[in-house]
Amino acid sequence: MDFSNTNRRRIAVLSGDGIGPEVVGSAAAVLNAAAARHDIGLDLVAGLVGGAAIEATGEPLPAATLELCRDSDAVLFGATGAPRWDHLRGGARPGSALLRLRRELGLAVNLRPVRFRQGLAGHAPVRADLAAGTDFIIVRELTGGVYFGEQGRSGAGGAERAFDTMAYTRREIRTAVSYALGLARQRGRRLVSVDKANVLASSRLWREVASAEAGRFPDVQVTHQLVDSFAFFMLCRPTALDVVVTENLFGDILSDEAAAIAGSLGVLGSASLNPGGGPGLYEPVHGSAPDIAGRGIANPIGAIESAALLLEHSLAAPAAARAVRQAVDDVIDAGILPADLGGGATTAEITDAVLSRLGVAVNMGVRA
Ligand code: NAD
Ligand code: IPM
Ligand code: MN
Repeated sequence: MDFSNTNRRRIAVLSGDGIGPEVVGSAAAVLNAAAARHDIGLDLVAGLVGGAAIEATGEPLPAATLELCRDSDAVLFGATGAPRWDHLRGGARPGSALLRLRRELGLAVNLRPVRFRQGLAGHAPVRADLAAGTDFIIVRELTGGVYFGEQGRSGAGGAERAFDTMAYTRREIRTAVSYALGLARQRGRRLVSVDKANVLASSRLWREVASAEAGRFPDVQVTHQLVDSFAFFMLCRPTALDVVVTENLFGDILSDEAAAIAGSLGVLGSASLNPGGGPGLYEPVHGSAPDIAGRGIANPIGAIESAALLLEHSLAAPAAARAVRQAVDDVIDAGILPADLGGGATTAEITDAVLSRLGVAVNMGVRA
C-alpha cells in the first residue's frame, strides 16, 4: 500500500513584502527538502499578506488568507511593510496583518532562540570570547501588553496628545510564564523573568504572577531582573542565560538586540505558538529590510531557522529540524556567508549550499 499521500500536512506560506519573498522562497525550498527526506508529505499554499495584499485586495489581511491559516498545520511568514505604505494608519497598515494573525490564532507565546555558532566567531558585533557557547531562548508574550491596549489621539496644537496602554491580565502573564517554566524544565532549569517593576504597574503584576508560578516549578531556578540592566547584562554574559521570559514590547526590543550575539538581524528565527493548540506561525525576527529588497542579497538563515522551528513544533519532526540546523551550520563553517555577516554569498547561493547538504541536487530546479 502506498502511504505517501496519506496524512499530508498543509503549510500556509505568507511571504509579504520587501525581502519577505526572497527569504521565504529560500526557507520553503529547505522545508520541502527536509520534509521529503524525512517522509513528510507537505502542501505549501501561498497566501497574500501585508502591502502585497493591500495592492491586490485593499486590505492587509484578506479573509481568504486568515481562512487559509486557520485551515493549515502551520504558517510560514516573511515580513510586511515598506515606506510606500507608511502613510496608512491603524488596521490599514501592512504590519497590522501580523498583529491580527497573532491574536486570531491565539499565538500567546513567541520563542526566539539565540545561539552562537562557532563559524560566526569574529563576524558578530559581540566579541566571540563573550558570546561563545551562548544558547538561550527568549519567550516573548505575544498577544497582550501595549500592542493590544487602548490607543488614542486627540486635541490640537501643542496640546495634541496620543497614548498607548500597557495592560496585562493575570491569565495572560500566567500563560507566558508557565510556558517558559516548562521550557526551562526541559533545558538548563534556569529562568530569568524580565520586567520594569520599579516603574510599571503591569510589571508589578507580572512579577507577582511570575513568582507564584515559579512556586509550581521548584526544580527551576527563577530570577527577576529589570529590563534596562538586563539589556546590558544580556550582551555581557549571554552564556549565563537559559530561558528568558518577558512581556511583548520588551521581548521585541531584546530579541533584536540579541541578534548582535548570534551574528546579525538576519540569523534569528522565531516560533509563535498557541499553548492550547492550533497552527503555529514561523517567521524570521527581522523585518522587510526595504533598503536591500530585490537585490538577492538578503540573509535567509533566520527564515530557514524558522522552517526548522516549524518542523520541530508543528510537524513533530525534530530529526528533520536538526538536519536543517546542521546543514546551515556546515554552510557557515564553509565560510559561505551573506553580506550582513561580512561575506559575498547571495541568497540563492546560500540556499543552494544548504539544499545540497540536505542531499538535494540543486541544479534540477528544485527552488521553484
Ligand atoms: P528590518 O529588520 O527590516 O531591517 C533593519 C536592518 O537590518 C536593515 O538595514 C536591513 O537591511 C537589515 N536586515 C534585516 N534583515 C536582514 C536580512 N535577512 N539580511 C540582510 N540584512 C537584513 O527593520 P526596520 O528597518 O526597522 O523595518 C523595516 C520595515 O519592516 C518596517 O516597515 C517595519 O515595520 C517592518 N518590520 C516587519 C516585521 C515583520 O513583518 N515581522 C518585523 C520588523 C519590522
Ligand atoms: C516582530 C516585528 C513586529 C512586532 C511588527 C512588524 C509588528 O517587529 O515580529 O518583531 O513588533 O512584533
Ligand atoms: Mn521586532
